[in-house]
Amino acid sequence: MDLKLKGKTALITGASGGIGSAIAEGLAAEGVHTCLNYNSNDKEVLRLKDKFTGMGLKSEVFKANVSQEEEVRNLVDFTIEKLGHIDILINNAGISYHKKFLDMDMSDWDTVIDINLKSYFMVSQLCARHMADRGERGKIINNSSMVEAIARPNLTTYCVSKGGIGALARSLAVELAPYNIQVNNVNPGIIETKILGDKLEKEPEFKQHLIDLIPMGRLGQADECADLFVFLASQRANYITGASYYIDGGVTIAQL
Ligand SMILES: NC(=O)c1ccc[n+]([C@@H]2O[C@H](COP(=O)([O-])OP(=O)(O)OC[C@H]3O[C@@H](n4cnc5c(N)ncnc54)[C@H](O)[C@@H]3O)[C@@H](O)[C@H]2O)c1
Repeated sequence: MDLKLKGKTALITGASGGIGSAIAEGLAAEGVHTCLNYNSNDKEVLRLKDKFTGMGLKSEVFKANVSQEEEVRNLVDFTIEKLGHIDILINNAGISYHKKFLDMDMSDWDTVIDINLKSYFMVSQLCARHMADRGERGKIINNSSMVEAIARPNLTTYCVSKGGIGALARSLAVELAPYNIQVNNVNPGIIETKILGDKLEKEPEFKQHLIDLIPMGRLGQADECADLFVFLASQRANYITGASYYIDGGVTIAQL
């Protein structure tokens, strides 16, 4: 099936590993020009940039902490300047944060909400203004989480941030529909990336505990999630908006 993505342009936040770089790879394989955002380590984004330019695509990298308004503004301006315009925004950057609710202070709240939720609001608003002014179809796809719908212990701020992303996508889907901008969420389950920390490698019993929660009996992989983002970014998904799609081996329904 031709996804009709060739020549489109995409900004991907947090593209320096895990699901973000898998999404970048998936979009590039369909002929999409990319701007790859990173915050700390540029090794992975530079590897991707080399690979994509070798495929004849435009690819740029830009360092920005997406929780900071000025840096987000610079990121979006840079992307438009280098790629000409933005057809697709992938909000992906995020952190996990384990702490007991009773032990938290407001800085814990601010850290997680600013990176995981406020950033999605800020990047979406700047990109949506650009898309609306341009008058062409736009796509915004958020990396949310299964915790949009379920609770996990000691993850309050993370769960709140991901629940907020769900509400944000639904609100924007309604408000931006007249501008031909579609907004959707992908809700991964338990995916084998660095966000799960080094406990996965160091504690086999912890890994097994996670696997036991999943009806399909294995952790998910970043490239399996990426395929769903690519489809939602494509012209084959033009009637889909305001939706949250779970890609989780059944873990969410098993927890409900
Ligand atoms: N791995 C999972 O089990 C899982 C499950 C559900 C949702 N998710 C979501 O997937 C997204 C990607 O996570 P991942 O699993 O690939 O983990 P990851 O740690 O490999 O990727 C997170 C990315 O976000 C970037 N990032 C973090 N803070 C940033 C900031 N302030 N500014 C810019 N970039 C920043 C990191 O540098 C990294 O590139 C996250 O939003 C996460 O919540 C992951």
